[in-house]
Amino acid sequence: MCGIVGYIGRDQASPVLLEALRKLEYRGYDSGGIAVVEENEKLQVRKIKGRLSNLDLLVSQQPVQGTCGIGHTRWATHGEPSDVNSHPHTDVSGKIAVVHNGIIENHASLREWLEKHHVVFRSQTDSEVIAHLVDFHYNGDLLLAVRETVKRLDGSYAIAVICEDFPGMLVVVRKDSPLVIGRADSYNLIASDVPPLLCHTREVQYLNDLELALLTKDEVTIYNLEGEVQQREIVHIDWDIEAAEKCGYEHFMLKEIFEQPKALHDTLFSRIKDGKIVLNAKIKEALVHCNHLLITGCGTAYHAGMVAKYVIEHFAMVSVEVDIASELRYRTPLCKAGDVCILISQSGETADTIACLRLLKSLGVVTIALTNVVGSTISREADLVMYTQAGPEIAVASTKALTTQLMCLYVIALVMAKKETGALLEQLMLIPSQAQLLLDKQEDIQRFAARQFNKDKVFFMGRLTDYAISLESALKLKEISYTHSESFAAGELKHGPIALVDESTLVVAMCTQPLLFAKMDSNIKEVKARGATALAITFDMVQDFNATADEVFRIPTTEPYFSPMLTVIVSQLYAYYCSVLKGNDPDKPRNLAKSVTVE
Ligand code: AGP
Repeated sequence: MCGIVGYIGRDQASPVLLEALRKLEYRGYDSGGIAVVEENEKLQVRKIKGRLSNLDLLVSQQPVQGTCGIGHTRWATHGEPSDVNSHPHTDVSGKIAVVHNGIIENHASLREWLEKHHVVFRSQTDSEVIAHLVDFHYNGDLLLAVRETVKRLDGSYAIAVICEDFPGMLVVVRKDSPLVIGRADSYNLIASDVPPLLCHTREVQYLNDLELALLTKDEVTIYNLEGEVQQREIVHIDWDIEAAEKCGYEHFMLKEIFEQPKALHDTLFSRIKDGKIVLNAKIKEALVHCNHLLITGCGTAYHAGMVAKYVIEHFAMVSVEVDIASELRYRTPLCKAGDVCILISQSGETADTIACLRLLKSLGVVTIALTNVVGSTISREADLVMYTQAGPEIAVASTKALTTQLMCLYVIALVMAKKETGALLEQLMLIPSQAQLLLDKQEDIQRFAARQFNKDKVFFMGRLTDYAISLESALKLKEISYTHSESFAAGELKHGPIALVDESTLVVAMCTQPLLFAKMDSNIKEVKARGATALAITFDMVQDFNATADEVFRIPTTEPYFSPMLTVIVSQLYAYYCSVLKGNDPDKPRNLAKSVTVE
């Protein structure tokens, strides 16, 4: 989704803004722009369609001077990607500039109203109304004008505003869209996410919904919509700069795949004391007394929930319901006060998951956020929060966020099963080093991808947790390689999907449930008989499938219900190499954004 940045300090703003926008590229964008103000000078805007290199070139040809500015990467929603639709947008006189992330739902009626007041629009965007409204309400007080504007907006927004009358002032406001303030010595910054701030500061402040902040180079003052000053603590972010850099890897995705052993280790071992799992007391209390657990999330986070359903029901014998957040929020949820829901979200900013959180809270459900981002909306609004220790995940395709979500869910399952110590925990403690063993064999997957990356169709199949992780494997492959990939519960094959299988199909059979090996072997035979190529993924001690599958990839042996944390690494690597071999950029897949902050 769009990214916004802002800087106010002593240095020239444009290099800081351009660098910060580069750090937000991963969110997905189709155009970029900056606006800068300088004492006694006209506001200057540079914006252009396409990659940020176009903007760099434009700014180098037409430099802008000023120590206060805002910037934007746009991901088109209203109006095609074009120079004129790019942000920043300005008012008619060109002295107020605005960048916006989100959607203004009532933009059409506001536009009509403004046009009646003789405003001539330049773009097709919903965001341009904001610049004209700020101008309409502006009477020498920029903060008041933004406050009055916001009262008229429906929808979601993170907005930053500058005005040439106040070159030492930057005003921001948010509702249902992320915005972080970075506090540094003698300068301050804002951004849609933490990574652009890390090379300046690790001290940040978060705005609540419908709060505004007035930034000068030395101060940040937060207000509510009534204009009352709000106190806000400064939060320290432990992520280091390297965590948000590629560090020699060709892509963030590959780096993040290889960070999984450490991320899994940190996520698990921070919760073990004297050989026993120690979970936050309130989370434990809520979970051990719960009779019915609901889990929700979107995309990969939903798949983590799917795995957890099998695992928790198997070990803890508690019924678990999993639903996609965009469905759950609109159906009739049969929840009651005292039920517990785990809301999974790497970013903590996904619009549908936030909507579920608010709905469930209103029904009296105890909400537990499982997220990677300290201070994110979900972490602040949920009753309880459990953090993954994955570090920043930059690549659009989620990898280490998923495996660390799974690790947290396994911890939860063992606590609910009252197995905080013992053989299962010992197996779980081996997973980080087993992930490393698997990564040490990555060239085998790379070679397999080199032989198979051009298949027309790739189907993943499995049973139980293998089915759940098949869903994730198919998503990963389609996201970055644009291959038509699907996943099936292997037992469903005969009920329809097998009609699609032919010589152009690769079938990846996830086979880590020993009690179901014979069934999977039959499924492999069935697809082979229709001409498909079959890859089986199983444990290193297992000799089954040698005779049936074309190739067998073996992962370290673990408790069968723990295998998703390992099998998924194989499909992540396979998806990554297919993407690269097809000439795609796996970090910036077409049409996708890292953080889906609008519906
Ligand atoms: C993962 O590869 C996807 N890019 C996507 O499905 C993602 O998991 C989903 O949008 C949810 O994001 P969240 O975890 O930040 O809520």
